[in-house]
Amino acid sequence: MSSRMNADRCTVVVGCQWGDEGKGKIVDVLAESVDVVARYQGGANAGHTVHVGDAEFILHQIPSGILHAGKRCLLGNGVVLDLLQFFEEYDALVARGIDLEGRVGVSLRAHLLLPWHRVLDRAAEAGARDKIGTTGRGIGPAYEDKAGRRGIRVADAANLPRFEELMTRGAERARERLVALGLPLDGAEAQALEEALERSMGLRERILSLAVDTGLEVDHALRDGQRVLLEGAQGTALDLDHGTYPFVTSSNTTAAGAATGIGVGPTRIDAVLGVVKAYTTRVGNGPLPTGFDEEMDARMRELGGEFGATTGRPRRCGWFDAVLARYAARVNGLTGLAVTKLDVLDTLPEIALCTGYRFPDGSTASEFPADTWALGDIEPILEWMPGWEQSTGGARTLEELPERARRYLDRIEALTGAPIRMVSVGTRRSQIIHVA
Ligand code: IMP
Repeated sequence: MSSRMNADRCTVVVGCQWGDEGKGKIVDVLAESVDVVARYQGGANAGHTVHVGDAEFILHQIPSGILHAGKRCLLGNGVVLDLLQFFEEYDALVARGIDLEGRVGVSLRAHLLLPWHRVLDRAAEAGARDKIGTTGRGIGPAYEDKAGRRGIRVADAANLPRFEELMTRGAERARERLVALGLPLDGAEAQALEEALERSMGLRERILSLAVDTGLEVDHALRDGQRVLLEGAQGTALDLDHGTYPFVTSSNTTAAGAATGIGVGPTRIDAVLGVVKAYTTRVGNGPLPTGFDEEMDARMRELGGEFGATTGRPRRCGWFDAVLARYAARVNGLTGLAVTKLDVLDTLPEIALCTGYRFPDGSTASEFPADTWALGDIEPILEWMPGWEQSTGGARTLEELPERARRYLDRIEALTGAPIRMVSVGTRRSQIIHVA
């Protein structure tokens, strides 16, 4: 790890594209030298893949730091906590030999994502004209309830009569909503929902046993001189405010969301590490300005194993979009960049970066536009570079990379305006370059 990262006590790790940048691996690597890892938004829509030796772990809610013995992992108030999925994941980790005793805390202020949210998510998608292509994990409806001030928080579980009443009312409201959407539950679906609600109620004491004030805990950890990593899910272009709205998720994925989503002030954050893949991918609907043609798309998907970790859906692929990366550097206030999956480009004879957008009327833009629909019509302005056509997986320093790969990284750094701190050249923990 670079000396700069070592000096930072509270670091945010944030995705700078449309998610799937490889944050899970970066957090896993950095977790070794921190004391606490805390997730600040999203829910079980995330799929963070981490390789430890020959084993693969896909984490949806529990921070990737959990795979390092002894590290404390928190889920902040900004998270929507899917009770059933969370304990499924928790128990699966224990079954695989990960000791979780005293290591996981969930915010008392986190909102619960309940079985009806998933049903409503799928119903809303089925009835939508402009489908978002959600993960179907109930994220939008859960955040709608939160913003609508009718959500159920972990703290509510402490009062059984109130919890029961909120659950009954929530389920009833969901049934009414489904009728209004013209998609009432049939007998089997209604029974499945009932059973899922019973199981959720049964987890009440278990979730309370993990409940903490995450803001207070992180504050104490920082005062005690501990190091904290705030882990984001999804990416900047999926941020509710700054992303390609409406094709976004329902939370603030960007770095500022880390402060509100954990419960610390922004002045407690020392560094923001932005994660970018060496090319671009997107899963779900909405524009991908640098998207490849069909043949190249299929080739890159194969080379990079670009299939969703949560839904298994194929990801669309494209060249590195420096317009988006520079926007992400600004919106997140990046202090550094981690470039992942450089090795996926190893066999390409030529590689391009997108430096601007050309609109159908011939005008150009070098800043990421707010008009998502216009973004669907642009032609990327590409800058071509020769590929290195050599394996990079064995490099552990920048000097060990082929010169052309170094030049490609230099160009990413120059166009983005953020210094590269880490480069990932493979799935293994050891396949990482720390830049001093
Ligand atoms: P939702 O978060 O399930 O509501 O989905 C909204 C959009 O965000 C869809 O385009 C999803 O494909 C995308 N999305 C949500 N989570 C992830 C993720 O972890 N990686 C990549 N895309 C995601």
